[in-house]
Amino acid sequence: MISDRPIDVWLEEFRQVKKDYPKHILIASIMEEYEKSRWQELTRMVQDTGVDAFELNFSCPHGMTERRMGSEMGEHPDLCEEVTSWVAEVSNIPVWAKMTPNITNTVPGGYSSQAVRPIALRMVSQLALGLPQDVSISGIGGIENSHDALEFFLLGSSTVQLCTGVMLHGVKMIDELKQGLEKFMTDKGFTSVQEIVGKSLGYFSTHMDLVQKMKAAKRTKAGEASRDNEWAQKDITEKTAELTSN
Ligand SMILES: Cc1cc2nc3c(=O)[nH]c(=O)nc-3n(C[C@H](O)[C@H](O)[C@H](O)COP(=O)(O)O)c2cc1C
Repeated sequence: MISDRPIDVWLEEFRQVKKDYPKHILIASIMEEYEKSRWQELTRMVQDTGVDAFELNFSCPHGMTERRMGSEMGEHPDLCEEVTSWVAEVSNIPVWAKMTPNITNTVPGGYSSQAVRPIALRMVSQLALGLPQDVSISGIGGIENSHDALEFFLLGSSTVQLCTGVMLHGVKMIDELKQGLEKFMTDKGFTSVQEIVGKSLGYFSTHMDLVQKMKAAKRTKAGEASRDNEWAQKDITEKTAELTSN
């Protein structure tokens, strides 16, 4: 999170969290200006506190854009690549980049929560379809319950993150997330989350493709040529019901 707190306070907090929760994984989300020595110094300082991984914040639109940090940097893939290599050079823990959707698909003003979920899901699916299979994706945007999280897994996320949901509902919401996910997995016979990652990607399609598939399915089902006449005789309730059912 963005904050005006001095770095020393953050470092002390990371150390404390690692002490209090030794079995948990602590990921530090860091951002800096476009300067190699600053990124590498920050990486070293944070790494020394014992955190388990780094997330490089190339995404946040909420602050420091005047210093070309966060999403300002994320809009330039070449900068992201360069900065990631600076961090990787001095880091001995996993590093991943948090990307912004604001490249060709602007969601301006730091918009978040449920309203961005469909957009975030599309971003995740596009990444999953475009990246090599061994690249793992962490999805975020509008996740508030296990159903939301499952959608992200099914479209290619290996892990999920939350921000606004926790701010609105408190950290207790994790309970439902865990229980709902577990129930889904048990009901459907899955034993590990990895088994469901990307499972729905094969069904991802365009509206035009769906319309064509629906028409073909109807023709096969009906096996008759006089469907247009039947359609004209139906009332609007029946017509729309047909459009929404398989
Ligand atoms: C108040 C607020 C502060 C945020 N600060 C950061 C930040 O410091 N770094 C970052 O990468 N993203 C930050 N974000 C973005 C969120 O991490 C997240 O990507 C976005 O809000 C979408 O997820 P959500 O719908 O679960 O909130 C912030 C979002 C909000 C609402």
